[in-house]
Amino acid sequence: VIDLYPLVRPLLMALSPETAHGLSLLGLKLGLGPTQSEPDDPVLATRLWDLSFANPIGLAAGFDKDAEVVDALLRMGFGFVEAGSVTPQPQPGNPRPRMFRLRAHRALINRMGFNSKGLAHYRLRLEDRFGQPGRLAGPVGANLGKNKLTEAAVDDYVVGARAVAAFCDYLVVNVSSPNTPGLRALQGRAELRELLVRVQQARSSGVNPPRPPLLVKVAPDLSTDDIDDIVAVALEVGVDGLIVSNTTIARPEGLSGPVQQAGGLSGAPLMDPATAVLAAFATRLRGQIPLIGVGGVASGADAYRKIRNGASLVQFYTAFAYGGPGLLWSIKRDLATLLRADGFASVADAVGADLPGFA
Ligand SMILES: Cc1cc2nc3c(=O)[nH]c(=O)nc-3n(C[C@H](O)[C@H](O)[C@H](O)COP(=O)(O)O)c2cc1C
Repeated sequence: VIDLYPLVRPLLMALSPETAHGLSLLGLKLGLGPTQSEPDDPVLATRLWDLSFANPIGLAAGFDKDAEVVDALLRMGFGFVEAGSVTPQPQPGNPRPRMFRLRAHRALINRMGFNSKGLAHYRLRLEDRFGQPGRLAGPVGANLGKNKLTEAAVDDYVVGARAVAAFCDYLVVNVSSPNTPGLRALQGRAELRELLVRVQQARSSGVNPPRPPLLVKVAPDLSTDDIDDIVAVALEVGVDGLIVSNTTIARPEGLSGPVQQAGGLSGAPLMDPATAVLAAFATRLRGQIPLIGVGGVASGADAYRKIRNGASLVQFYTAFAYGGPGLLWSIKRDLATLLRADGFASVADAVGADLPGFA
C-alpha cells in the first residue's frame, strides 16, 4: 500500500538508467512494490480477445524481459503486463552503456539488443504462476524475439511460441526492435506472411479455437507502403492484434542530451509520431483487428488520445521509469475523468473517436 518510489526516486535518478532499472526489479522481487488499494474505476474495464482487463493501461515489453515480476506489476495496478522480449537461448545483449536518459525530454535511447536469460528460464517463470488458483486477474502477454546469431529467424519465433503458448494470455511477435540486425526486415510483406503463418501453426497445434491470440509489434518508422503491406498480411493471415509501436530510430528536431547515441528513442518525443502511425493503421483496419497504442504515453490525456486514435488498449514504459507507480495511478484516474467528461460509458466506446468514419 505504501509507495516507496517518491523516496527512492532521487537515488534512482542519480544512478545509471540500467542500474536504476536493475534495482527497481530487485525491489519488486523482494515484495517492496506498492499494492493498489482500491479497485479500478469501472469505466476503465474492458474486454478483448475473451480476456477481461480491469483497466486498459499495460506495461510495455522491455521492463520485465525475463518475466520475473509480472505479479508485482499487476498488483501495482497495471491492467496487463507484457513480459519479454525473450530469446530462445540466453544472450548478454550489447555492451554497456546501452541505455541513456534524455532527461529534459523525459525520453530514453536504448540499444539493449535483447539481453535475455533465455526461454527455459522465462517459461518456468510463467508456468509457475499460470497454474496458481489464486493467480491475480490481469492478462500477461509473452513477447518473443530472436537470438542475434540465429539465421533462420522464423525458427526462433516458432520455438518461442511453442514453449510459452500454454502459459500466457497473448503472444507477441516482435519484429520491430531496432537493435537486432535484420529484425525489422521481417516486417516486409513476404517475410511477415511466412513468419506469421508458421507462428500461428506453432501456437496451438490441435487447440480449438486457436489460442492464445497472436499480435505483431511494429516499428513507428514505416512508410505508407509498409503500413499497407502489414495491414494486407495481417488481414490475410488473420492476426489478432497489432501493437503500435516500438521505439524510433528517428531523432526529432530540437532534442538535447545524448541524441547521437545509436538505438531506439522512446518517451515523450515518440508520442506524436507513434500516434500518427497508430491512426494510419486504425484508419485502414476500421476495427477489423484491435490495436494496442504505445509510444510516449505520460498522462491520462495521452492515453485517451491513443484510444481516440484507434487503440483498444494502451501501454507505456519510459514515463513509468521517470514517474513510477504514482504516474500509473494518475494516468488511470485522469483517463476515467476524461472518458466520463465526454459522455463515454466505457473505453470501448471511445476507440477511434477522433478518426473520420470510424465504426
Ligand atoms: C530500455 C527499453 C527496453 C525495451 N525492450 C523492448 C523489448 O525487449 N521488446 C519490445 O517489444 N519492446 C521493447 N521496448 C519498447 C517498449 O516496449 C515501447 O514500445 C517503447 O519504449 C515506446 O513506449 P514508451 O515511449 O512508453 O517507452 C523497450 C523500451 C525500452 C525503453
